[in-house]
Amino acid sequence: MYIKKLKIEKQEIGINYLKNKILNALILFCFLFFKIGVTVENKIPALCQVFKEYFPIGAAVNLKTVVSHSELLKKHFNSITLENHLKWGLIHPLPDKYNFEDADKIIKFAIENKMKIRGHTLVWHVQIPDWVFKDEKGNMIDKEKLLERLYEHIKNVVGYYKGKIYAWDVVNEAISDKKNEFLRDVPWYNICGEEVIEKAFIWTHEIDPDAILFYNDYNIEFPTKREKVYQLIKKLKEKGVPIHGVGIQAHWKLDEKMPEYLEESIKKFASLGLQVQITEFDISIYLDDNEKFNSPLEVPSERFIKQKEIYKKAFEVIRRNKQYITGVTFWGIADDATWLDKFPVKGRKDFPLLFDINHNPKQVFWEIVKF
Ligand code: GLA
Repeated sequence: MYIKKLKIEKQEIGINYLKNKILNALILFCFLFFKIGVTVENKIPALCQVFKEYFPIGAAVNLKTVVSHSELLKKHFNSITLENHLKWGLIHPLPDKYNFEDADKIIKFAIENKMKIRGHTLVWHVQIPDWVFKDEKGNMIDKEKLLERLYEHIKNVVGYYKGKIYAWDVVNEAISDKKNEFLRDVPWYNICGEEVIEKAFIWTHEIDPDAILFYNDYNIEFPTKREKVYQLIKKLKEKGVPIHGVGIQAHWKLDEKMPEYLEESIKKFASLGLQVQITEFDISIYLDDNEKFNSPLEVPSERFIKQKEIYKKAFEVIRRNKQYITGVTFWGIADDATWLDKFPVKGRKDFPLLFDINHNPKQVFWEIVKF
Protein backbone atom coordinates (compact mmCIF):
# COMPACT_ATOMS: atom_id res chain seq x y z
CA MET A 1 0.00 0.00 0.00
CA TYR A 2 2.72 2.40 1.09
CA ILE A 3 4.88 1.42 -1.93
CA LYS A 4 1.93 1.93 -4.31
CA LYS A 5 1.31 5.43 -2.87
CA LEU A 6 4.99 6.22 -3.25
CA LYS A 7 4.86 5.12 -6.89
CA ILE A 8 1.86 7.32 -7.61
CA GLU A 9 3.52 10.28 -5.90
CA LYS A 10 6.66 9.69 -7.94
CA GLN A 11 4.64 9.54 -11.12
CA GLU A 12 2.85 12.77 -10.21
CA ILE A 13 6.13 14.48 -9.41
CA GLY A 14 7.46 13.28 -12.77
CA ILE A 15 4.42 14.60 -14.62
CA ASN A 16 4.56 17.93 -12.79
CA TYR A 17 8.25 18.20 -13.53
CA LEU A 18 7.58 17.63 -17.20
CA LYS A 19 4.68 20.09 -17.16
CA ASN A 20 6.91 22.73 -15.58
CA LYS A 21 9.61 22.13 -18.14
CA ILE A 22 7.15 22.48 -21.01
CA LEU A 23 5.65 25.58 -19.47
CA ASN A 24 9.06 27.15 -18.99
CA ALA A 25 10.06 26.32 -22.54
CA LEU A 26 6.81 27.81 -23.76
CA ILE A 27 7.35 30.99 -21.75
CA LEU A 28 10.90 31.26 -23.07
CA PHE A 29 9.69 30.69 -26.62
CA CYS A 30 6.97 33.33 -26.30
CA PHE A 31 9.40 35.76 -24.74
CA LEU A 32 11.96 35.29 -27.50
CA PHE A 33 9.31 35.36 -30.21
CA PHE A 34 7.83 38.57 -28.85
CA LYS A 35 11.24 40.11 -28.29
CA ILE A 36 12.43 39.28 -31.78
CA GLY A 37 9.14 40.62 -33.17
CA VAL A 38 9.45 43.81 -31.19
CA THR A 39 13.10 44.19 -32.16
CA VAL A 40 12.33 43.78 -35.85
CA GLU A 41 9.45 46.24 -35.55
CA ASN A 42 11.73 48.68 -33.71
CA LYS A 43 14.26 48.48 -36.47
CA ILE A 44 11.74 49.73 -39.01
CA PRO A 45 12.15 53.49 -38.92
CA ALA A 46 9.03 55.64 -39.03
CA LEU A 47 8.83 57.35 -42.43
CA CYS A 48 7.63 60.61 -40.99
CA GLN A 49 10.48 60.61 -38.47
CA VAL A 50 13.04 59.99 -41.20
CA PHE A 51 11.73 63.02 -43.10
CA LYS A 52 11.02 65.14 -40.03
CA GLU A 53 13.44 67.85 -41.10
CA TYR A 54 12.16 67.79 -44.68
CA PHE A 55 8.37 67.63 -45.04
CA PRO A 56 5.31 65.82 -43.64
CA ILE A 57 4.58 62.37 -45.06
CA GLY A 58 0.95 61.81 -45.89
CA ALA A 59 -1.44 59.12 -47.03
CA ALA A 60 -4.86 59.26 -48.65
CA VAL A 61 -7.31 57.54 -46.32
CA ASN A 62 -10.94 56.53 -46.20
CA LEU A 63 -13.34 55.29 -43.54
CA LYS A 64 -12.13 51.71 -43.95
CA THR A 65 -8.39 52.30 -44.03
CA VAL A 66 -8.26 54.47 -40.93
CA VAL A 67 -9.26 51.24 -39.17
CA SER A 68 -7.62 48.50 -41.25
CA HIS A 69 -4.33 50.42 -41.62
CA SER A 70 -4.34 52.36 -38.39
CA GLU A 71 -1.07 50.89 -37.10
CA LEU A 72 0.86 51.83 -40.24
CA LEU A 73 -0.78 55.23 -40.31
CA LYS A 74 0.04 56.01 -36.70
CA LYS A 75 3.63 54.92 -37.03
CA HIS A 76 4.66 56.24 -40.43
CA PHE A 77 2.42 59.15 -41.43
CA ASN A 78 1.95 62.60 -39.96
CA SER A 79 -0.50 63.87 -42.54
CA ILE A 80 -3.63 62.57 -44.25
CA THR A 81 -5.77 63.50 -47.21
CA LEU A 82 -9.40 62.43 -47.26
CA GLU A 83 -9.50 60.25 -50.36
CA ASN A 84 -13.23 60.74 -51.06
CA HIS A 85 -15.15 62.04 -48.10
CA LEU A 86 -14.85 65.76 -48.86
CA LYS A 87 -15.82 65.45 -52.52
CA TRP A 88 -19.21 66.90 -53.50
CA GLY A 89 -20.70 63.47 -54.23
CA LEU A 90 -20.27 62.33 -50.63
CA ILE A 91 -20.35 65.50 -48.58
CA HIS A 92 -23.01 67.41 -50.50
CA PRO A 93 -25.08 64.80 -52.35
CA LEU A 94 -28.29 66.86 -52.57
CA PRO A 95 -28.87 70.63 -52.70
CA ASP A 96 -29.89 70.89 -49.07
CA LYS A 97 -28.02 67.94 -47.64
CA TYR A 98 -24.51 67.98 -46.23
CA ASN A 99 -23.02 64.72 -44.88
CA PHE A 100 -20.29 65.64 -42.44
CA GLU A 101 -20.46 62.47 -40.36
CA ASP A 102 -18.03 60.24 -42.25
CA ALA A 103 -15.48 62.96 -42.89
CA ASP A 104 -15.76 63.89 -39.19
CA LYS A 105 -14.73 60.37 -38.16
CA ILE A 106 -11.60 60.52 -40.32
CA ILE A 107 -10.76 64.00 -39.12
CA LYS A 108 -11.18 62.91 -35.50
CA PHE A 109 -8.71 60.06 -36.12
CA ALA A 110 -6.21 62.50 -37.63
CA ILE A 111 -6.53 65.02 -34.83
CA GLU A 112 -6.22 62.34 -32.14
CA ASN A 113 -3.00 61.20 -33.78
CA LYS A 114 -1.68 64.72 -34.31
CA MET A 115 -1.72 64.47 -38.09
CA LYS A 116 -2.04 67.34 -40.52
CA ILE A 117 -5.18 67.24 -42.67
CA ARG A 118 -5.41 68.10 -46.37
CA GLY A 119 -8.81 68.95 -47.84
CA HIS A 120 -9.60 67.42 -51.23
CA THR A 121 -11.35 68.93 -53.21
CA LEU A 122 -13.72 71.83 -53.99
CA VAL A 123 -13.87 72.22 -57.77
CA TRP A 124 -13.54 68.96 -59.71
CA HIS A 125 -15.53 67.50 -62.62
CA VAL A 126 -15.64 63.91 -61.24
CA GLN A 127 -17.55 62.48 -58.25
CA ILE A 128 -19.93 65.42 -58.39
CA PRO A 129 -23.71 65.06 -58.62
CA ASP A 130 -25.57 66.24 -61.70
CA TRP A 131 -27.86 68.54 -59.74
CA VAL A 132 -24.98 70.96 -59.19
CA PHE A 133 -25.13 72.06 -62.82
CA LYS A 134 -28.87 71.79 -63.47
CA ASP A 135 -32.16 73.43 -62.56
CA GLU A 136 -35.35 71.63 -61.49
CA LYS A 137 -36.29 71.06 -65.12
CA GLY A 138 -32.93 69.45 -65.90
CA ASN A 139 -31.59 72.39 -67.91
CA MET A 140 -28.04 73.64 -67.42
CA ILE A 141 -27.91 76.62 -65.08
CA ASP A 142 -26.10 79.87 -65.84
CA LYS A 143 -22.85 81.21 -64.47
CA GLU A 144 -24.44 83.32 -61.78
CA LYS A 145 -26.39 80.38 -60.35
CA LEU A 146 -23.45 77.99 -60.51
CA LEU A 147 -21.15 80.42 -58.76
CA GLU A 148 -23.82 80.96 -56.14
CA ARG A 149 -23.93 77.19 -55.50
CA LEU A 150 -20.15 77.03 -55.32
CA TYR A 151 -20.07 79.85 -52.80
CA GLU A 152 -22.62 78.10 -50.59
CA HIS A 153 -20.62 74.88 -50.80
CA ILE A 154 -17.34 76.54 -49.89
CA LYS A 155 -18.94 78.53 -47.09
CA ASN A 156 -20.44 75.40 -45.57
CA VAL A 157 -17.63 72.90 -46.07
CA VAL A 158 -14.52 75.07 -45.67
CA GLY A 159 -16.26 76.99 -42.88
CA TYR A 160 -17.19 73.77 -41.06
CA TYR A 161 -13.59 72.48 -41.08
CA LYS A 162 -11.91 75.84 -40.51
CA GLY A 163 -8.90 75.45 -38.23
CA LYS A 164 -8.79 71.68 -38.76
CA ILE A 165 -7.91 71.41 -42.41
CA TYR A 166 -4.64 73.22 -43.01
CA ALA A 167 -4.53 72.99 -46.81
CA TRP A 168 -7.14 72.68 -49.57
CA ASP A 169 -6.88 71.33 -53.09
CA VAL A 170 -9.22 74.10 -54.18
CA VAL A 171 -9.24 73.19 -57.86
CA ASN A 172 -8.46 69.72 -59.16
CA GLU A 173 -7.62 68.83 -62.77
CA ALA A 174 -8.98 71.90 -64.57
CA ILE A 175 -6.44 71.78 -67.39
CA SER A 176 -7.22 69.70 -70.46
CA ASP A 177 -4.98 66.88 -71.70
CA LYS A 178 -5.94 67.75 -75.28
CA LYS A 179 -3.43 69.61 -77.36
CA ASN A 180 -5.70 72.41 -78.54
CA GLU A 181 -7.81 72.79 -75.45
CA PHE A 182 -6.86 74.84 -72.39
CA LEU A 183 -9.53 74.25 -69.77
CA ARG A 184 -11.38 70.94 -69.79
CA ASP A 185 -14.63 70.59 -71.68
CA VAL A 186 -16.77 70.05 -68.55
CA PRO A 187 -19.68 72.00 -67.01
CA TRP A 188 -17.57 73.98 -64.51
CA TYR A 189 -15.57 75.65 -67.27
CA ASN A 190 -18.16 75.52 -70.03
CA ILE A 191 -20.49 77.52 -67.82
CA CYS A 192 -18.08 79.79 -65.92
CA GLY A 193 -14.72 79.72 -67.73
CA GLU A 194 -11.67 80.65 -65.68
CA GLU A 195 -13.78 82.79 -63.38
CA VAL A 196 -14.84 79.73 -61.39
CA ILE A 197 -11.18 79.01 -60.60
CA GLU A 198 -10.55 82.56 -59.45
CA LYS A 199 -13.72 82.65 -57.36
CA ALA A 200 -13.00 79.28 -55.76
CA PHE A 201 -9.64 80.51 -54.50
CA ILE A 202 -10.93 83.90 -53.43
CA TRP A 203 -13.88 82.46 -51.50
CA THR A 204 -11.91 79.67 -49.86
CA HIS A 205 -9.42 82.28 -48.67
CA GLU A 206 -12.23 84.52 -47.48
CA ILE A 207 -13.80 81.71 -45.44
CA ASP A 208 -10.51 80.37 -44.04
CA PRO A 209 -7.69 82.90 -44.42
CA ASP A 210 -5.19 80.57 -42.71
CA ALA A 211 -5.62 77.65 -45.09
CA ILE A 212 -2.96 77.05 -47.74
CA LEU A 213 -4.58 76.84 -51.14
CA PHE A 214 -3.48 74.53 -53.94
CA TYR A 215 -4.13 73.91 -57.59
CA ASN A 216 -3.79 70.10 -58.01
CA ASP A 217 -3.34 68.08 -61.20
CA TYR A 218 -1.81 64.99 -62.83
CA ASN A 219 0.76 64.67 -65.63
CA ILE A 220 2.01 68.16 -64.92
CA GLU A 221 5.52 66.75 -64.78
CA PHE A 222 5.31 66.65 -68.58
CA PRO A 223 6.35 69.86 -70.37
CA THR A 224 3.13 70.53 -72.31
CA LYS A 225 0.67 70.25 -69.45
CA ARG A 226 3.17 71.81 -67.04
CA GLU A 227 3.30 74.89 -69.26
CA LYS A 228 -0.49 75.20 -69.37
CA VAL A 229 -0.75 75.01 -65.58
CA TYR A 230 2.09 77.49 -65.27
CA GLN A 231 0.24 79.93 -67.53
CA LEU A 232 -3.01 79.51 -65.64
CA ILE A 233 -1.40 80.12 -62.27
CA LYS A 234 0.73 82.98 -63.53
CA LYS A 235 -2.46 84.73 -64.61
CA LEU A 236 -4.07 84.06 -61.23
CA LYS A 237 -1.05 85.44 -59.41
CA GLU A 238 -0.98 88.56 -61.59
CA LYS A 239 -4.61 89.19 -60.73
CA GLY A 240 -3.82 88.84 -57.03
CA VAL A 241 -5.86 85.66 -56.58
CA PRO A 242 -4.83 83.93 -53.33
CA ILE A 243 -3.14 80.74 -54.49
CA HIS A 244 -0.23 79.35 -52.50
CA GLY A 245 0.82 76.06 -54.00
CA VAL A 246 0.72 73.49 -56.74
CA GLY A 247 -0.07 69.86 -56.03
CA ILE A 248 1.68 67.47 -58.36
CA GLN A 249 -0.37 64.28 -58.09
CA ALA A 250 2.40 61.92 -59.32
CA HIS A 251 0.38 58.87 -60.35
CA TRP A 252 3.28 57.36 -62.25
CA LYS A 253 3.97 54.50 -64.59
CA LEU A 254 7.35 52.68 -64.58
CA ASP A 255 9.04 55.48 -66.47
CA GLU A 256 12.62 56.32 -65.45
CA LYS A 257 12.33 59.84 -66.83
CA MET A 258 9.70 60.90 -64.29
CA PRO A 259 12.05 62.07 -61.51
CA GLU A 260 13.81 64.38 -63.95
CA TYR A 261 10.52 65.81 -65.24
CA LEU A 262 9.40 66.19 -61.66
CA GLU A 263 12.41 68.30 -60.80
CA GLU A 264 11.81 70.60 -63.78
CA SER A 265 8.19 71.06 -62.71
CA ILE A 266 9.04 71.74 -59.08
CA LYS A 267 11.46 74.47 -60.16
CA LYS A 268 9.06 75.95 -62.68
CA PHE A 269 6.16 76.22 -60.21
CA ALA A 270 8.45 77.42 -57.45
CA SER A 271 9.58 80.24 -59.77
CA LEU A 272 6.07 81.67 -59.37
CA GLY A 273 6.70 81.94 -55.65
CA LEU A 274 4.58 78.88 -54.92
CA GLN A 275 5.13 75.95 -52.63
CA VAL A 276 4.88 72.49 -54.13
CA GLN A 277 3.47 69.26 -52.74
CA ILE A 278 3.45 65.76 -54.14
CA THR A 279 -0.16 64.99 -53.42
CA GLU A 280 -1.12 61.54 -54.74
CA PHE A 281 2.08 59.55 -55.13
CA ASP A 282 2.04 55.96 -56.40
CA ILE A 283 3.89 53.98 -59.08
CA SER A 284 2.04 51.21 -60.89
CA ILE A 285 4.00 48.05 -61.72
CA TYR A 286 2.19 47.59 -65.05
CA LEU A 287 3.51 48.52 -68.47
CA ASP A 288 0.22 48.15 -70.32
CA ASP A 289 -3.46 47.36 -69.86
CA ASN A 290 -3.19 43.76 -71.08
CA GLU A 291 -0.95 42.53 -68.31
CA LYS A 292 -2.34 41.03 -65.13
CA PHE A 293 -0.50 39.71 -62.07
CA ASN A 294 -2.60 38.36 -59.24
CA SER A 295 0.01 38.29 -56.52
CA PRO A 296 3.37 39.92 -55.84
CA LEU A 297 4.98 36.54 -56.58
CA GLU A 298 3.74 36.69 -60.16
CA VAL A 299 5.26 40.12 -60.75
CA PRO A 300 8.59 39.87 -62.62
CA SER A 301 11.27 40.95 -60.15
CA GLU A 302 12.62 43.61 -62.58
CA ARG A 303 9.36 45.51 -62.11
CA PHE A 304 9.87 45.92 -58.39
CA ILE A 305 13.51 46.82 -59.00
CA LYS A 306 12.48 49.50 -61.47
CA GLN A 307 9.78 50.77 -59.14
CA LYS A 308 12.39 50.97 -56.39
CA GLU A 309 14.81 52.93 -58.54
CA ILE A 310 12.20 55.42 -59.68
CA TYR A 311 10.92 56.03 -56.15
CA LYS A 312 14.49 56.37 -54.93
CA LYS A 313 15.36 58.98 -57.57
CA ALA A 314 12.10 60.81 -56.97
CA PHE A 315 12.90 61.11 -53.29
CA GLU A 316 16.39 62.36 -54.10
CA VAL A 317 14.79 65.07 -56.24
CA ILE A 318 12.25 65.92 -53.57
CA ARG A 319 14.86 66.12 -50.81
CA ARG A 320 17.14 68.19 -53.00
CA ASN A 321 14.31 70.69 -53.50
CA LYS A 322 13.10 70.66 -49.94
CA GLN A 323 13.00 74.44 -49.78
CA TYR A 324 9.97 74.34 -52.09
CA ILE A 325 8.33 71.11 -50.93
CA THR A 326 5.83 71.26 -48.08
CA GLY A 327 4.43 67.74 -48.21
CA VAL A 328 4.60 64.33 -49.84
CA THR A 329 1.41 62.30 -49.79
CA PHE A 330 0.95 58.75 -51.05
CA TRP A 331 -2.37 57.78 -52.60
CA GLY A 332 -2.95 54.95 -50.16
CA ILE A 333 -1.01 53.22 -47.42
CA ALA A 334 -0.18 49.63 -48.38
CA ASP A 335 -0.54 47.49 -51.51
CA ASP A 336 -3.56 45.58 -50.20
CA ALA A 337 -5.80 48.63 -50.75
CA THR A 338 -5.11 50.85 -53.75
CA TRP A 339 -7.38 52.63 -56.21
CA LEU A 340 -5.21 51.12 -58.97
CA ASP A 341 -6.94 47.75 -58.38
CA LYS A 342 -9.89 49.37 -60.14
CA PHE A 343 -8.09 51.65 -62.58
CA PRO A 344 -7.26 51.64 -65.47
CA VAL A 345 -8.22 47.93 -65.52
CA LYS A 346 -11.02 46.92 -63.16
CA GLY A 347 -10.21 43.97 -60.90
CA ARG A 348 -6.50 43.89 -61.68
CA LYS A 349 -4.25 43.88 -58.62
CA ASP A 350 -1.53 46.53 -58.54
CA PHE A 351 1.36 47.00 -56.12
CA PRO A 352 2.18 50.72 -56.22
CA LEU A 353 3.06 51.72 -52.64
CA LEU A 354 5.87 51.39 -50.08
CA PHE A 355 4.21 48.73 -47.89
CA ASP A 356 3.20 45.28 -49.18
CA ILE A 357 -0.14 43.49 -48.99
CA ASN A 358 0.75 42.29 -45.47
CA HIS A 359 1.69 45.81 -44.36
CA ASN A 360 5.41 45.06 -44.27
CA PRO A 361 7.92 47.53 -45.74
CA LYS A 362 8.91 46.67 -49.32
CA GLN A 363 12.51 46.88 -50.53
CA VAL A 364 11.65 50.30 -51.92
CA PHE A 365 10.87 51.52 -48.39
CA TRP A 366 14.41 50.67 -47.30
CA GLU A 367 15.85 52.51 -50.30
CA ILE A 368 13.95 55.66 -49.51
CA VAL A 369 14.85 55.86 -45.85
CA LYS A 370 18.55 55.25 -46.56
CA PHE A 371 20.31 58.58 -47.16
C1 GLA B 1 -7.53 61.78 -58.99
C2 GLA B 1 -8.20 62.54 -57.88
C3 GLA B 1 -8.24 61.77 -56.62
C4 GLA B 1 -8.62 60.34 -56.82
C5 GLA B 1 -7.72 59.73 -57.85
C6 GLA B 1 -8.08 58.30 -58.06
O1 GLA B 1 -6.19 61.82 -58.94
O2 GLA B 1 -7.59 63.77 -57.62
O3 GLA B 1 -9.17 62.35 -55.78
O4 GLA B 1 -9.94 60.24 -57.20
O5 GLA B 1 -7.89 60.44 -59.03
O6 GLA B 1 -8.40 57.65 -56.88
